Parts: sequence; structure tokens; C-alpha cells
Amino acid sequence: MEIHKYEKWWMIFGTGTLIVFLIILGVSAFHSGTHPNNSKWTIDYEKVDEYAPFDNPGLHKVEGKDWDYEVVLVAQAFAYNPTEIEIPVGSKVRFIATTKDVIHGLEVAGTNINMMLEPGYVSEKITTLDKAGTYTIVCNEYCGTGHALMYSTLKVVD
Ligand code: CUA
Repeated sequence: MEIHKYEKWWMIFGTGTLIVFLIILGVSAFHSGTHPNNSKWTIDYEKVDEYAPFDNPGLHKVEGKDWDYEVVLVAQAFAYNPTEIEIPVGSKVRFIATTKDVIHGLEVAGTNINMMLEPGYVSEKITTLDKAGTYTIVCNEYCGTGHALMYSTLKVVD
């Protein structure tokens, strides 16, 4: 069977671009070690409740640190623990969160707090809450049938 000259060129071109694509994908996804969570703090996600600080979720006033409060949040399908947090306005806060099961996306709507929670990793964010108001902590990563019902409330009060 004769293959037309141009058809052959296009086959080579098509195969070539596919190979280039796979090389780029492979190098960027695996070789570069790309991982959505850059956290070095790991945890056994099946025993989250047993380890500090996750054995005591909620708001904690801290002394002698660069921040005033720590908010410890535990995510699981389909809830956050605690379900409500109240913090004085102007506080510098370190959010510390993890998940007990699947990937969740912790986002405090209307702020710059937005972090992926992955099983086995602890995610952190230090920020200053300088606007009073009631914020909803949502889950922005689809995690199952109850995904849309998964939320907590952050009250920044005067
Ligand atoms: Cu948790 Cu979506």
C-alpha cells in the first residue's frame, strides 16, 4: 500500500507533537516534583484527632509569637470543626488546617485565605484580619455529595 507523501509528513508531525506534549507534561508534572501543597508538615490523616494542635480545634490566643491567635481547623466530608470562630478585628492570625479524609479547599470568602487541604499534609496561612464582618469559610474543592453544605463561619468583631 502506498502512503501519500503529505499524509506521511502529517503522520510524523502529529506523532511528533504528541511526543513533545507528553515530554512537557511528564517533566512538569513528575520530574519537577510539582505538588499542590508545599507544606513540609505532614500528619497521619487517619489519626488527626490524636495529634496537637488538631486534638483541640478552634481559636487559641498565643503569646510570644509573631501572631496573636491560632485558628485550628479540621476538615472532613462534609463539615469543618469548629463550625464558628470569633476573632477580634485587627488580629494577626495563623490558620492551621488539615483534612481527615479527602481533599478539601478551605477558602474564607472575601479574604486572601484560600488553601488546599490534602490528606497527610498540614496547610498554613498567616494573615491579619483587618475588616470586621461575618465571613463564610467554604469548601471550594468538590469533595462529594455534601460538598455544597460544607462550611463554617468566621466572625471578625469590633
Ligand atoms: Cu469539602 Cu468540598
